[in-house]
Amino acid sequence: MKIGIFDSGLGGLCTLKAIAHELPEYDYVYLGDTARLPYGSRTHAEILEFLKEGIDFLYSHDCQLVIVACNSASAEALRGVQQEYLPAAHPGRNLLGMIVPMTEACAPFKKVGLIATEATIHSGAYPREFAKRAPQTEIISLATPKLVPFIEAGDMQSVDAALEEYLARFNGIDALLLGCTHYAIVKDEIRKFLPDSVAIVSQDTVVPGKTREYLVRHPEVEGTLSRNGTRAFFVTDLGEQFKKVAAAWFGEDISIQKTDIAKGM
Ligand code: DGL
Repeated sequence: MKIGIFDSGLGGLCTLKAIAHELPEYDYVYLGDTARLPYGSRTHAEILEFLKEGIDFLYSHDCQLVIVACNSASAEALRGVQQEYLPAAHPGRNLLGMIVPMTEACAPFKKVGLIATEATIHSGAYPREFAKRAPQTEIISLATPKLVPFIEAGDMQSVDAALEEYLARFNGIDALLLGCTHYAIVKDEIRKFLPDSVAIVSQDTVVPGKTREYLVRHPEVEGTLSRNGTRAFFVTDLGEQFKKVAAAWFGEDISIQKTDIAKGM
């Protein structure tokens, strides 16, 4: 069986690339719900429905473990899906999100700035998790909704302008938590607007090690995984930027299939 990676768009490709680099032997299935992006400005009910449809698709494509790379979905809907929907609809399958590992990675810092979508900030999921897992760390949250559309469009000039405006609002932080799949893609741009002393905590550096630790702790999951090193890509709408980024990171010869996961709300 395989490892599924779910995101609303192309940002999760960065997470897949990093996980597959750390754990190359496994088989991966990527699903980007590009037709319904951005999730970051969606309601709780919409994100919950989309997440259920996304994981239904991935489990039906032979995934044992699904990693929800999308922070908006992790923040808004993951806990409820793990506790209620998963055991009923997909008993025996496993589902992980971003909030816990990213929070744990921030625990060594005193004051952390969080940038994320409106949905992630509005959910309060990170401050709640910090209170549990990093209670000594102060978290300052900022919704940065301009970034995802510019990153999806590959418009780096606008990304720079938005970053300059947003990052000037943080004062005295010692780490910046990139609470969105897409932000890791522009990490070099983010670095330009931060003092060198500020650490950048991003999922492409945190999640691969956490995934490895999870598989070591859960041999019953690891033991089900096949090891052919395959990668399959599915999107709900296939745009040029997705093709370009996927080909640059996974090779020109990959096949990306367009699929429909919506059951209608
Ligand atoms: N994948 C989303 C996240 O990590 C960002 C893109 C979106 O808004 O859909 O929050």
